[in-house]
Amino acid sequence: MEKISIIGAGSWGSALARILGDNHHQVLLYDTNESTVNEINNFHTNLAKLPIGELPFEVRATTSIKDAIDFTDIIILCVPTKVLRSVLHLINENITSPKLFINTSKGLEPDTYLRVSEVVYAIINHQFIKGFVALTGPTHAEEVIRQLPTTICSVSTNKEDAKFVQQIFNNSTYFRVYTGSDLIGSELCSAIKNVYAIASGMLEGCGYGDNARAGLISRALVEMKRLVVAMGGKEDTIYGLTGIGDLVVTTTSHYSRNFQAGVKLAKGSNLAETIASMSMVVEGARTVEAVYDVSKKLNLSTPIIDAVYSVIYKQQGVKEVVAELMNRALKDE
Ligand SMILES: NC(=O)c1ccc[n+]([C@@H]2O[C@H](COP(=O)([O-])OP(=O)(O)OC[C@H]3O[C@@H](n4cnc5c(N)ncnc54)[C@H](O)[C@@H]3O)[C@@H](O)[C@H]2O)c1
Repeated sequence: MEKISIIGAGSWGSALARILGDNHHQVLLYDTNESTVNEINNFHTNLAKLPIGELPFEVRATTSIKDAIDFTDIIILCVPTKVLRSVLHLINENITSPKLFINTSKGLEPDTYLRVSEVVYAIINHQFIKGFVALTGPTHAEEVIRQLPTTICSVSTNKEDAKFVQQIFNNSTYFRVYTGSDLIGSELCSAIKNVYAIASGMLEGCGYGDNARAGLISRALVEMKRLVVAMGGKEDTIYGLTGIGDLVVTTTSHYSRNFQAGVKLAKGSNLAETIASMSMVVEGARTVEAVYDVSKKLNLSTPIIDAVYSVIYKQQGVKEVVAELMNRALKDE
């Protein structure tokens, strides 16, 4: 059995702790929120983030980054990408031995547009990076905490690292883990799909139906393929768990905060009001800026991303951008 630290005790960090605890690993969750840490240690719950479900006794929590780092040589990153850089600097100041980094955050770094693996290698002293794995796929914390059947992919350029993470997380009752090797493609898909979740929520907020959503998902897949391939990922990844799998779950589920944000935007809230009204992270709102810029630089056609960008950053109405999408020049599929 392994000792494992999770950085970020939000919904996903807590759900991951549940799986690892169920698999009889010892888990230490690190978070800056003292009341969350106390609740986990005293009551084995995190009710603000996950109203249903308890954490196993193997799971403890701390506000000390040093304790979290010294506890283990396996570190799972599970914080919003906007705080990732500062968290990694803190880890780098305290790290004294090599660690396997497992990332579960979904997004590109705001401002630099780097993938999470790139940010990790930019900040952590390389002698302390034993390996890097992205654990990503169609997963909502709210279902994992209830032990509902879920699939995910452990992705690394190092096959042994991917297999190791597969072994520690796989649970034959409710959490099936595959392995993959396209780190670039998987990291990009897991970030970009959040933009389409916002788009899907916008359609819902306008009262549009299943036809519109199915059309969105199909055309989003085409855009994702253009972006991922142009940025160095593999086309096959689009058709796997980290691609279409994550795209479908996030564009069709009311658990998705990005979807919920899209509904609010369609109903007239601006971005600041939307983010302020939500208790959890909305990664897609930041990612759209990055992906929009990259798409323009690479001269790609990504009309759905452009539309979401226009609603969020150019204050265009949702119905107006949908009308524009419907009136684009006719073309082959
Ligand atoms: N929720 C899900 O179902 C899910 C599934 C897969 C991946 N993810 C990804 O996981 C990441 C985290 O999402 P979440 O849903 O857990 O978010 P969340 O908002 O529920 O929790 C974020 C947690 O990070 C903590 N935090 C913030 N700043 C911190 C800092 N500087 N140091 C330490 N902790 C800090 C907060 O206190 C909070 O507990 C996101 O990138 C998200 O896309 C979420």
